[in-house]
Amino acid sequence: MAARFLYTVLLPQVAEYVVVDPCDGDTSCQSYIKVLLEIPPSNDDLLVCGSTTVISKYDCYNVSSSNSLTTSIDPEYICSVHYLENTTAVIDTDDGKLYTALVYNGVRDRTIGRAPSYIEPVDIFSVAADEWIGEEPSFISSYTETVLEDWVLFFFREVALESETRDIYSRMAKVCKDDNGGNSNVLTNNWATYQKARLQCENKYYYNVLLDTALSADGQTIYAAFIANENGVPRPAVCSYDLTQAVPVFENQQYYSQDTNTDQWEKVVTSHDPYPGE
Ligand SMILES: *[C@@H]1O[C@H](CO)[C@@H](O)[C@H](O)[C@H]1NC(C)=O
Ligand SMILES: *[C@@H]1O[C@H](CO)[C@@H](O)[C@H](O)[C@H]1NC(C)=O
Repeated sequence: MAARFLYTVLLPQVAEYVVVDPCDGDTSCQSYIKVLLEIPPSNDDLLVCGSTTVISKYDCYNVSSSNSLTTSIDPEYICSVHYLENTTAVIDTDDGKLYTALVYNGVRDRTIGRAPSYIEPVDIFSVAADEWIGEEPSFISSYTETVLEDWVLFFFREVALESETRDIYSRMAKVCKDDNGGNSNVLTNNWATYQKARLQCENKYYYNVLLDTALSADGQTIYAAFIANENGVPRPAVCSYDLTQAVPVFENQQYYSQDTNTDQWEKVVTSHDPYPGE
């Protein structure tokens, strides 16, 4: 099928940061597009975010005008700085809010953020230090329009903090669309409704590594492609998940917690309010 060539993102030079040109002879220094989203309601405009490697400079563009979008979002909140770090972003067509999940400052800080629109600064995010997202996350996909109408869903894989052997687990996380952040000093501008669950896909093997997802047209089923690396042999699998079953998972399941940073993760005995922010 013939393609219509639309655009190439040429990232601005940032000479002030660059002592030795890191792109000299290094083809990996070109920019990589990490986010490509139609902007509702017209969908004539595309939000494009690219990132590089050493320069870590990126921008967002209006394809129709070939201009940078006028935006007050720190572009670091739209796509991960380093091209090897994955990003997912989605704009809710109902209210235009932009949700992103990315690694924004080197390898340690990973966050899920929300901006009231694609031109306004992020007002809710998760705090990296809280380790709500595990280490080395790879963000795969995000959805605002599923049967779980009140939720925004994120799919990713991460090094599970509760795994003593540092296994990669795959996750579905959710935040509520009406989350306006916690009301204590600690949680101001932080998600109060963030929860994550492990996505299990297994028969004879544990397929821990999520690669991609697709949502059914009725918004109820997520199909997820995984890979397992058992005995050095890569084994692919596809699992499907009925999203309506996520409600009891988040409401009734056993929670894990850790007393201090060095303790093991233990099942929580006393019951916690699963929705402290509502
Ligand atoms: C993108 O550019 C087109 C053409 O200049 C303009 O009509 C449109 O409003 C711009 N879109 C955004 C989101 O700025
Ligand atoms: C980003 O995704 C690609 C494709 O799945 C993968 O090769 C790469 O390792 C991911 N990056 C990170 C930091 O996990």
